[in-house]
Amino acid sequence: MTTADALMEIAYGLDPVAWLSHIKWDSFDWQRDVLHDSSTRICINGARQAGKSTIISAKACHMAKYRPGSLTVILAPTQRQSQEDMLKIRSFYGPDSTYPKRVKANDMELVLDNGSRVLVLTATDEAARGFSSPDLIIFDEASRIPDIVFDAVRPMITDNDRAVIVEISTPNGRKGFFNSHFHSNLWSRYEVRTPWDIVTTATMPTLVKTIYEGTEGVKLYFSPRHYSIKDQIEVITNGEDGQGMSSRMYRQEYCCEFVEAEAQVFSNELIASLFSNPENVSVKPFDLIGKDLAAKVPQGETPAVSFPDVNDFLRRQGCANGC
Ligand SMILES: Nc1ncnc2c1ncn2[C@@H]1O[C@H](COP(=O)(O)OP(=O)(O)O)[C@@H](O)[C@H]1O
Ligand SMILES: [Mg+2]
Repeated sequence: MTTADALMEIAYGLDPVAWLSHIKWDSFDWQRDVLHDSSTRICINGARQAGKSTIISAKACHMAKYRPGSLTVILAPTQRQSQEDMLKIRSFYGPDSTYPKRVKANDMELVLDNGSRVLVLTATDEAARGFSSPDLIIFDEASRIPDIVFDAVRPMITDNDRAVIVEISTPNGRKGFFNSHFHSNLWSRYEVRTPWDIVTTATMPTLVKTIYEGTEGVKLYFSPRHYSIKDQIEVITNGEDGQGMSSRMYRQEYCCEFVEAEAQVFSNELIASLFSNPENVSVKPFDLIGKDLAAKVPQGETPAVSFPDVNDFLRRQGCANGC
């Protein structure tokens, strides 16, 4: 290795984004910001297919190469998801000709000759107790991982100041550790959502510009992978399985909202107000349906999507001069 190569390796070690560019992989803005984030507690609430598993796999792969002897653990709710994460890790080290030699590389474990290990495990209580002193713990699809798993790794984290925790997920209701961490300013928080909103009128396109305000302290992004109008209309009208997607699911899976459970009759706000201000609780019709905007749509009509650029939408539909 030449001196110049050695210097470049030092630069890649300090900057995961530079390392990714070196292996010819371009990150989205939000992915870049996550990789540059030096916090030890990072919580990312992202739309389905935004590139969440990809970026945490890149982070794990970088850590294993550039911090010799490190232990990274990725916990995912199912075996299929954890195997997907390992495949993504391979896709990052594959093109890197100077990546350390693999002493072991299977679906669950990557061991390098620099002493680093990456474990990719299905998130069970037992699996979470099977390792110690991690440098990086990643909870992929964290909202689907039971609290008991987080509780099992908590002592390893509290004993180790340097341990970095990354939680990344679509939301799954207002429960669990992912929900509480996303609402806590002790965490460095990101939200990566589709630019398309559901609105309450049946006509499409509706002339509503998407205005988005997030929770204070959360870094907000519109997901570059979700800019295609066609895909979004198809999600609403057909759903990925041809069955259609409810607006509640759309808001959860693509708009990053912590919506209440489908079968929940009273909203969380209403329940909270019963405790905080019991004298002044008034039950309005919408309290009974939580915040599901679809329920405000007149019966028999379909919720529509709002388009940030209506003219562009019309042009694409061949209606440039009015339809
Ligand atoms: N920076 C990027 N540039 C191009 N494609 C990307 C980028 N990040 C992720 N992807 C692609 O987006 C798709 C969804 O990524 P994935 O990480 O599985 O999403 P998620 O875990 O959020 O559902 C994959 O095909 C992946 O290769
Ligand atoms: Mg994923």
